[in-house]
Amino acid sequence: METSPSSQVVTDSASTLPASSSAGSSHLSSLNLALGNPIAHHVQNPEPMTEDPLWYQHAVFYEVLLRSFGDANGDGMGDLAGLTAHLDYLQWLGVDCLWLPPFYPSPMQDGGYDISNFMDINPIYGSLDDFRTLVEGVHNRGMRILVDIPLNHTSDQHPWFQSSRSNPSGPYGDYYVWRDDDSGYPDARVIFVDSETSNWTFDPVRKQYFWHRFFSSQPDLNYENPDVQREILTIIRFWAGFGVDGFRLDAVPYLFEEEGTNGENLPKTHEFIARIRQMIDAEFPGTILLAEANQWPEDVVEYFGTEERPECHMCFHFPVMPRIFYSLKEGNAQAIRSILMTTPDIPTTAQWSTFLRNHDELTLEMVTDQERAQMYSWYATDQRMRANVGIRRRLAPLLDNSLTQIQLANILLFSLPGSPYVYYGDEIGMGDNIWLPDRDGVRTPMQWIPEANAGFSQAAPADLNLPVISSLSYNPSAVNVQSQLEQPHSLLHWMRNTLAVRKAHPVFGDGALVLLPTDNPAVLAFVRHNAEETILCAMNIADSAQATTVDVDGCAGSSVTDLFSGSVFPSIAEDGSLRLTFAARGYYWFSLSH
Ligand code: NOJ
Repeated sequence: METSPSSQVVTDSASTLPASSSAGSSHLSSLNLALGNPIAHHVQNPEPMTEDPLWYQHAVFYEVLLRSFGDANGDGMGDLAGLTAHLDYLQWLGVDCLWLPPFYPSPMQDGGYDISNFMDINPIYGSLDDFRTLVEGVHNRGMRILVDIPLNHTSDQHPWFQSSRSNPSGPYGDYYVWRDDDSGYPDARVIFVDSETSNWTFDPVRKQYFWHRFFSSQPDLNYENPDVQREILTIIRFWAGFGVDGFRLDAVPYLFEEEGTNGENLPKTHEFIARIRQMIDAEFPGTILLAEANQWPEDVVEYFGTEERPECHMCFHFPVMPRIFYSLKEGNAQAIRSILMTTPDIPTTAQWSTFLRNHDELTLEMVTDQERAQMYSWYATDQRMRANVGIRRRLAPLLDNSLTQIQLANILLFSLPGSPYVYYGDEIGMGDNIWLPDRDGVRTPMQWIPEANAGFSQAAPADLNLPVISSLSYNPSAVNVQSQLEQPHSLLHWMRNTLAVRKAHPVFGDGALVLLPTDNPAVLAFVRHNAEETILCAMNIADSAQATTVDVDGCAGSSVTDLFSGSVFPSIAEDGSLRLTFAARGYYWFSLSH
């Protein structure tokens, strides 16, 4: 990796390691060691969960793929016990809430988003008891957990579909969307363009076509059927009963269909989400809903609902993500500025979920055709790097394994409005494998130690569910948690320290955003402020040193203190201007006070 020109975050690694082993943790410790968890002997102290009802506005989220995080039983597949064994690490990192993609029984045609039984655990991951243990372990460390409910569709192996196709007049006959021909809803786009040519597939058993927005092995549920709506509420109640803290609602825009529309964000869909929210508020208060709606900001905000009829607490902000990558290559902050300017205000109890990467392709649905072509030419020169409408690569390889770029991208993630979601492995700069099919290239085993299987599993390497990355720059000897723990200036320590700084300033989670004029298009500057504090964030998006004058209107004479080092900078001038110079990809978080 390139070395960072900035020495803004400096913490001694020894002082950041957790306190050493406590009594009663020997089983966990030995499992940790078997899995190669390098901080196994540094067990964290129990911590209470915050009782703040708006906890999600200040939380750091972490997406963790069970299949690739830790394999406790040595069968080559990550599992619930393997994740439980690594909770100390996540607590140490500063994670407040885990997001687990689906872990239900599934033929795994879509990474588990194709479900054959919504109310059990896929045996490859463990049992319901293992899930209980995980939830308890998460809560004992003061963390929380979101589970993922793909409510738009099931697997074609689900008993509902099997019954629906073979017994059209039976109780499940109307659980899916069946037609005699494939001419319905012509305005609905195909989402998985790499594998599907139509949203209709002919079923030779029922001799009718069924509707599906994703793979043809994932038939869409028929939400016009009140029984389907009831089933989904039952499923949500089932998991809420385990004490989970929230639900990611997968693919929410597509629940209902209607002729003459594109089948996205329909009023009936919003009505049903509001119904889920009503049930949750009445029966499981404090549990949150997160919408996965890959839509433009003005359409996404509808998923927050209204004060009278609330829907979700959080929504992913899809459009801001590709613009971070666009700006970094262009060396110009304009793309980020304009999406922030067109993002509507959200209710005070709501929050954006922001992210750089996740288990899917870096989606390019929310950019213009021109921007998309530009991004493919910058980031996906090899056809194998593309998937559907997007780019199937991880953060570090996307950003040329440049520490300064990775840090700047994360600084943007941590300072723009919203709560950040870190994708497992990106905190150490893991690589990808474009030779694996579909999106598996960004789902490879977590790299804990520089040894066989990267400490992920004790299975024979050939038996791993996905191979460990073996490329020169990203193999486990080059990239792993253990060696980054030992290097005070590693990306891992930088992530932990920067998250700690962010968490010490709740304004990053709940403050308003005011974009500031600068006289240099490479510099993005904005203020985050609430009643308690004002923070000025300024970033040089370009790959060369830059200078600018920022117009901090209304803050004339304020003192300027660097949040990372405590260094005091020259105050804001009487005309509200602040002169700043930056190293390439440099950034500042300044506390302003009168
Ligand atoms: C969104 C999920 O993130 C993705 O992995 C999945 O393929 C689709 N929804 C369909 O469930």
